[in-house]
Amino acid sequence: MSSHNRGARPCAGRRALLGGTALALIAPPWWPAIAAETAPERQPAQVGDLLAFPSWEHADRLLAPDDLVTGAEPLLVYPRDPATGVSRERSRLNQILVCRLAPGTLDEATRAHAAGDVVAYSGICTHTACGITGWNAEQAHFVCPCHQSEFDAGRAGQRVAGPAPRALPALPLALSDGHFVIRGSFTSAVGASA
Ligand code: FES
Repeated sequence: MSSHNRGARPCAGRRALLGGTALALIAPPWWPAIAAETAPERQPAQVGDLLAFPSWEHADRLLAPDDLVTGAEPLLVYPRDPATGVSRERSRLNQILVCRLAPGTLDEATRAHAAGDVVAYSGICTHTACGITGWNAEQAHFVCPCHQSEFDAGRAGQRVAGPAPRALPALPLALSDGHFVIRGSFTSAVGASA
């Protein structure tokens, strides 16, 4: 039993003394899930985090500029705390897609968040939060496999097809010491629209 649960079960005497307050301290059934959300590997991306491959791919290493080929399929990465080395890969909302676009194809809004020609976006569709796995290489569009929404990587993630109601959130990046660093929050809320 976790320490949270031990604390949530006062003895009968204390319960009588504390009355309604004691009831308020009893953890509801969903408490473990809420507590788990605060674990470092589940925390949202933070400014200053580095981008790293998932632990089950590429030996869990940091993303490097040479990993990105112009026009090639986006790579899936997660934010990693540079101080602790913890990758925040236990929350699917932290899925990030990174790709290198052809020079001169990024509009002004996209360039504002890019590291050169490299752009990063949330990997979670804004329709009903499917993971985005498709890529239209000819047009540089992310493609959601669930209902075929498409998002333009070179135009700030704007939705260009399908039922998604809004753009993919972009993630501002910088290149520092050969690695990609998050330099700002996502440009909008990650996940499905309310
Ligand atoms: S969840 Fe992506 S288009 Fe529906």
